[in-house]
Amino acid sequence: MKLVGKIALVSGAGSGIGRAISVTLAQQGTMVVVTDIDEAKAKQTATEIVGMGFKAIGIAMNVCDSQQITSVQTTLAQQNMLPHIIVNNAGWTTNQSFIKNPPDLWDRLIDINLMGVIRVTRAFLDPMTQNGQGGTIVNVSSDAGRVGSSGESVYAAAKGGVIAFSKSLARELARYKINVNCVCPGPTDTALLRTTPEKFQEALLNAIPLKKFADPMDIANAVAFFAAPESAYVTGQVISVSGGLTMVG
Ligand SMILES: NC(=O)c1ccc[n+]([C@@H]2O[C@H](COP(=O)([O-])OP(=O)(O)OC[C@H]3O[C@@H](n4cnc5c(N)ncnc54)[C@H](O)[C@@H]3O)[C@@H](O)[C@H]2O)c1
Repeated sequence: MKLVGKIALVSGAGSGIGRAISVTLAQQGTMVVVTDIDEAKAKQTATEIVGMGFKAIGIAMNVCDSQQITSVQTTLAQQNMLPHIIVNNAGWTTNQSFIKNPPDLWDRLIDINLMGVIRVTRAFLDPMTQNGQGGTIVNVSSDAGRVGSSGESVYAAAKGGVIAFSKSLARELARYKINVNCVCPGPTDTALLRTTPEKFQEALLNAIPLKKFADPMDIANAVAFFAAPESAYVTGQVISVSGGLTMVG
């Protein structure tokens, strides 16, 4: 229970990796604000966490909707529940060669995966810079953003953007004791991975040295490390949780 008294906001937390992150942070004593574009899924995750004996609430928040993000911020401020920990996890991709991509797909991929992180971070930053106690931001990027991914060129560009944004922000926010780090999942067993072609999944499995997809909890454990006081001296860093698929120097 390293994080008792802390409040964490997790985006895209109604399922998959975001759900696992919410459960893990709650188990560490955090009060978790579970947010998702799908309100029912956010509330379901929160209910499950409360059922386990931990603290959480579920709220609708689309990371592409600035007005809704501001309204969530205002509601939390009124309830004295502004987050000390922000986990930008919401993301989406699809597998299609760049040559076939319609331009509106580029817009959607960049809007969710890069602009979503920028919007949510900006909306919750002022209280963190003003409270004198600092805070933690953990951005869920992807190994696609470190080493590229065939069929995901624009997604990879957005995720690479998240890494560059995180490093630059880490430099800017160090003076406020706000740490910013990135977790890059490799192939992880969630609904998102299961939308990719089976052949692609098989090829991935063969290439992973540990010969299995990550469990969402594997990613959550890395996020929990960056959220914990033990990593207070770590900022601007990127860690791959990929079963050894990528080994970036
Ligand atoms: N699963 C993988 O193999 C993998 C690999 C690398 C990176 N990632 C990244 O991990 C993160 C989580 O992915 P996942 O596999 O758990 O996906 P998922 O599809 O299982 O869950 C994503 C959640 O985000 C929500 N969401 C989608 N669009 C949203 C929006 N605009 N605003 C708020 N919420 C939204 C969905 O409703 C869903 O609950 C994403 O950023 C993804 O890019 C996943």
